[in-house]
Amino acid sequence: KTGMFTYDSGFLSTGSCKSAITFIDGDKGELLYRGYPIEQLADQCTFLEVAYLLRKGELPNAAQKDEFERSIKNHAMLHDQLMRFYNGFRRDAHPMAIMVGIVGALSAFYHEAMDFSDEEHRTMSVYRLIAKLPTIVAMAYKYNMGQQFMFPRNDLNYAENFMHMMFATPCEEYKPNPVVAHALDVIFTLHADHEQNASTSTVRLAGSSGANPFACISAGIACLWGPAHGGANEACLNMLEEIGDVSRVGEYIKRAKDKDDSFRLMGFGHRVYKNYDPRAKLMRKVCYDVLGELGLENDRLFKLAMELERIALEDDFFVERKLYPNVDFYSGIVQKAIGIPTSMFTCVFALARTVGWITQWEEMITDPEYKIGRPRQLYVGPARRDVPDMAQR
Ligand code: SDX
Repeated sequence: KTGMFTYDSGFLSTGSCKSAITFIDGDKGELLYRGYPIEQLADQCTFLEVAYLLRKGELPNAAQKDEFERSIKNHAMLHDQLMRFYNGFRRDAHPMAIMVGIVGALSAFYHEAMDFSDEEHRTMSVYRLIAKLPTIVAMAYKYNMGQQFMFPRNDLNYAENFMHMMFATPCEEYKPNPVVAHALDVIFTLHADHEQNASTSTVRLAGSSGANPFACISAGIACLWGPAHGGANEACLNMLEEIGDVSRVGEYIKRAKDKDDSFRLMGFGHRVYKNYDPRAKLMRKVCYDVLGELGLENDRLFKLAMELERIALEDDFFVERKLYPNVDFYSGIVQKAIGIPTSMFTCVFALARTVGWITQWEEMITDPEYKIGRPRQLYVGPARRDVPDMAQR
């Protein structure tokens, strides 16, 4: 028991839980993965090293790193029958809708043979999801574009492979820009996990019933899609395009402060951070590096975003409410510069967050105390009453 809450099912009755994976200090703007600061991990480790850390609790040594990378490469391809599922979608289907369908369909290819109380079987599920998500996302993009699928290559690292599957075509040689690939790898790390956010809680709640991990991750993708959550990066870029010019920033700041206007600054504010989201600071630096590498230093949207941030952070409304840029504020700008279309931004978020989701799922199902999550409610409906005859209704 912790104070007024009981720890009754992997969920406190308020729908919270205990976890050893990620720590956030919202007031300080601090984010730790298994105790390591996100700033150091983004600077010194690859996304796959971070994925290994999140699941195992320790960073891999050189041999463990090589072995893990090899295992992930071995599972990057999709079953031929699963690739045919794409043809069932309209060409203009939102790629998040495709992801919900294809990831959920993985249940039909692996779930039956798996016993998730067996560590070996859990490992196979974890590796398959981490390995296949980039392929699934890239194929959704190719399907939208009406282009042939590009298959994963074993000579490329995780981020380079994703770029290859997204942007290569059979017609010409494609070599991923190493600076851009590294930036993408950092973007994956910044999105890897974030404690008990809405989509992670969705994965845990689904998993607490014993549902298979592929179906649980599909549920997490569906939740992340919302504009108040992972869809905010797409919404933020659309907002910047709508503002269009620095001269109109004041008009939108005014709207964001107007209680009668439903407009909110996308990429601003957070349920937990009441200080600058440390990921936003790192994302702004990634943005700077990529735009510089691509000769886009004067990118209109980046300049607009920095001016919007400057004006908002000098405005009492935002300062008093401790509203700062969050992870979504700059991520769309850098993804657009890389060539990823707006509709795919949340897919990239889901690709990276799959590592956190599946780690949180495994932490829950291996907790001997866990039971099916069953949050309660505060009933505000009518008191007990009798059914009237039809004539009295
Ligand atoms: C993610 O939970 C996670 O960890 C999520 C995430 C992750 O990694 O999983 O970090 C990813 O979802 C980041 C958030 C992305 N969403 C957006 O950027 C959408 C825009 N942000 C807002 O919708 C909002 O800030 C929320 C939903 C994120 C938080 O909303 P809350 O809980 O209402 O924020 P709050 O309680 O701090 O709000 C306090 C006040 C309120 O006004 P008052 O009633 O005090 O007058 O600030 C206002 C809010 O209306 N406010 C905003 C605002 N966010 C809050 N006003 C204008 N623009 C905003 N963005």
